[in-house]
Amino acid sequence: MSKNIQSLWSKSISFEKGQLHCSGISATALAAEFKTPTFFLDEDDFRTRALNWNSELSKAFGPQAGHVYYAAKAFICVEVARWIADLGIGIDVCTGGELAVALKGGINPENIEVHGNNKSVEEIEQAVAAGVGIIVMDSLFEIERVAAAAKSAGKVQRVLLRLTPGIQAHTHESIATAHEDVKFGFSIASGAAWQAVVETKKYASLELRGFHSHIGSQIFETEPFAIAAERLIELLAKYNKEFAQQLPELDLGGGYGIAYLENETEIHAADVLSTLANQVKQVCAKYSLDVPKISIEPGRTIVGPTMFTLYTVGTTKVVTLDNGGTRNYVSVDGGMSDNLRTALYGAEYTAVIANRESSAKKIATRIVGKHCETGDIVIKDIEFATDVAPGDLLATPATGAYGRSMATNYNHISRPPVVAIKDGKARVILRRESIEDLLRLDI
Ligand code: LLP
Repeated sequence: MSKNIQSLWSKSISFEKGQLHCSGISATALAAEFKTPTFFLDEDDFRTRALNWNSELSKAFGPQAGHVYYAAKAFICVEVARWIADLGIGIDVCTGGELAVALKGGINPENIEVHGNNKSVEEIEQAVAAGVGIIVMDSLFEIERVAAAAKSAGKVQRVLLRLTPGIQAHTHESIATAHEDVKFGFSIASGAAWQAVVETKKYASLELRGFHSHIGSQIFETEPFAIAAERLIELLAKYNKEFAQQLPELDLGGGYGIAYLENETEIHAADVLSTLANQVKQVCAKYSLDVPKISIEPGRTIVGPTMFTLYTVGTTKVVTLDNGGTRNYVSVDGGMSDNLRTALYGAEYTAVIANRESSAKKIATRIVGKHCETGDIVIKDIEFATDVAPGDLLATPATGAYGRSMATNYNHISRPPVVAIKDGKARVILRRESIEDLLRLDI
């Protein structure tokens, strides 16, 4: 693995004689100060990426640009919520927990959008009480529950209906969401979506603003997004015909793919949003509709490339394979508890030795964690230097999205901290769990 793979690393990463530096601080110094495993987050890169999606949305849709709702599920903590508040963009939360973090970070409730296919009544009541800008409703039960919560709070809640446009986007089955056989949304094809429209209109405490779709995650083509937009607009047209009124908003979700490997290229905001804008304008013209306000919910593409994980190598072991070949097993001090994506989705990552140069021969290697299970794999197949040794630091790029946010305490391992780096200074924004934290819940 060469270190000339700058596109996989955030802007402030550089390599000097094999030593990784983030904003001028060496990996060796970072490991000494913060221990490993640790997620390091490039704050400027996060802000730049978020603002870029916001400005490209404005460029593509002009006055009809709605919100960029950063998808909190990709990664959120109170400090990142403060950055979102500071940037003035919106946030998409899908649980009461994420809502609490967003509010604690000072995000204006008007800029909060609430998701979830099974929000509890309590979560709905909290969201309504907080004054969130929009709730995306996902089932007939929920329409009734949101209406009741808004009514008893004496409010009219703005809502969207999540629709299933029936699209098979190319991504892992567990993260594709817009084909018919899924738990999310109201199917357009089956008529469930229209039934939801009719139901929603029965409640004076609900203001139906429009429709939402999210077709899946880690998608590289622009076409499925455009097809989803078209299907949503077709329903806007039906609404217009039935009620002689136009719904003012569409939210086209997130899902924009990023590069995890050298041969991958992330989907660029300018490309996908201009394609979307052309499609939306054309289809609206076809049905003589005004272009609605268009919002999006990028998560991975904002935070994913801004973080890398730093591990320390603990052991190495060369094993002989059935075919007579060999494989070097390199064990690091984390694993599936800080990166579940390899085990769960067969996700692929790359890594480099971050503390030194190596010109050693490369051999088939598997980078594994310290958990008691064979599936505890960080990188399944990588050609890696044979001289990798205990004490070496390993860095894995692009772990910002769904890394720390899906971290677990499996085997009673404490979840790693997140350290933000900016202008040559590193500071903990989410601390490492301690053994005391792990014991705190025991009675
Ligand atoms: N909006 C909705 C309604 C979503 O469900 C999601 C992701 C997003 C936006 C953000 O998608 P993004 O831009 O981050 O792709 N844990 C999986 C990803 C699950 C995505 C769930 N929903 C992974 O690690 O790949």
